[in-house]
Amino acid sequence: MFTLQLTDTHEMIRQTARDFARDEVAPTAIERDKSGTFPHDIVKKMGELGFMGMMVSPEWGGSGLDALSYVLAMEEISAVDASVGVVMSVNNSLVCWGLETYATDAQKERWLRPLATGEVHGAFCLSEPEAGSDATQQHTVAERGDGGWILNGTKNWITNGTTASTYLVMAQTNRELRHRGITCFIIPKDTPGFEPGLKEDKLGIRSSDTCSIGLTNVFVPDDQVLGEVGQGFKIAMESLNGGRIGIAAQALGIAKGAYEAALVYSTQRKAFGKPIADLQAIQMKIAEMATSVEAARWMVYRAAWMKDQHLNYIKSAAQAKLLASKTAVSVALEAIQVHGGYGYVREYLVERFLRDAKITEIYEGTSEIQHIVIARELLKEIA
Ligand code: CAA
Repeated sequence: MFTLQLTDTHEMIRQTARDFARDEVAPTAIERDKSGTFPHDIVKKMGELGFMGMMVSPEWGGSGLDALSYVLAMEEISAVDASVGVVMSVNNSLVCWGLETYATDAQKERWLRPLATGEVHGAFCLSEPEAGSDATQQHTVAERGDGGWILNGTKNWITNGTTASTYLVMAQTNRELRHRGITCFIIPKDTPGFEPGLKEDKLGIRSSDTCSIGLTNVFVPDDQVLGEVGQGFKIAMESLNGGRIGIAAQALGIAKGAYEAALVYSTQRKAFGKPIADLQAIQMKIAEMATSVEAARWMVYRAAWMKDQHLNYIKSAAQAKLLASKTAVSVALEAIQVHGGYGYVREYLVERFLRDAKITEIYEGTSEIQHIVIARELLKEIA
């Protein structure tokens, strides 16, 4: 039974994230979006606040908080700038989580600690030019070498790709075993033959960096295998279950930001001799937007709560991402409509919300993949 009780700690984290987003993130958000500049200083400050390793144990440099705290912070930061949100989400959910769950103590000391403190940040490399939704079809190969593995291939759409220091890379170590022959490798950026490409010129989340990565005869020693040989696909899928909660919270934040901007604007803009908020046509939009944001919020908090309760959260995470990303797109569109012509120009916030929202329906599993995940879990429940 889902019961939600925010503690004083949750409220404090939400307030800290809200203040941080307003004071440190908002002032440069429009400019960074235009120029596509990575928020280096902001990410450094997020590390100091403990936002880069929120769920990692203090033993390894993290904040030791629960998933609910994480989504509260993600929501507030993404409500101001989803580019900053995704840097945080990938580091927390896809990189730190896998390392804390599967790494040896020596690996945690070497790789997890600097990521959890925010000294450096990480990237997660599963997608390839021909393996996006169909993630089992890894073409990147790892062949046995002396004391380690030699990797060749290409990774695509890698968030934090040009700026990260530590990468979790999936590669096929035994093709005959299909997904059970995929292994996860920890690779530092300065490894010879590991070559992040140029930053993609994206529609949205423009101040985060996304790129392809070429691997040419990249030697990875045995002590940089994460988990067991052949366990990489399991690590990737489990990481993505949590990642989907993070992206759902990012989408929720975008929806909240767009809705709040529209609400405020509706009280300021006058038409027909009164604020447009007094017109029923606008009231209906505001009411619809608020209701969808609230529905998405409950789904996202519920998924985080299920993770915190150590319940099976695969379906809840996929449902939260499916609903929150759809909500982000529809609420951002309506926010533009409420702003009229002003919503269509870059000086106002809301067009960025729409551009940023769209990716939440694509990365960390498209909406179509979320439907598959949900349906499979439903069928398992009745089997
Ligand atoms: N959680 C845990 N395990 C899962 C899982 C889940 N959600 N989904 C599948 N698995 C396991 C299955 O149990 C199975 O394991 P076993 O055979 O050992 O029992 C294995 O994975 C293969 O599953 P299927 O046989 O069902 O494989 P499939 O090919 O039919 O479907 C899929 C797999 C669900 C479609 C999967 O490929 C998938 O999730 N695709 C989407 C990939 C994705 O989200 N990519 C995003 C990349 S990250 C990113 O976006 C970039 C970034 O930087 C932010």
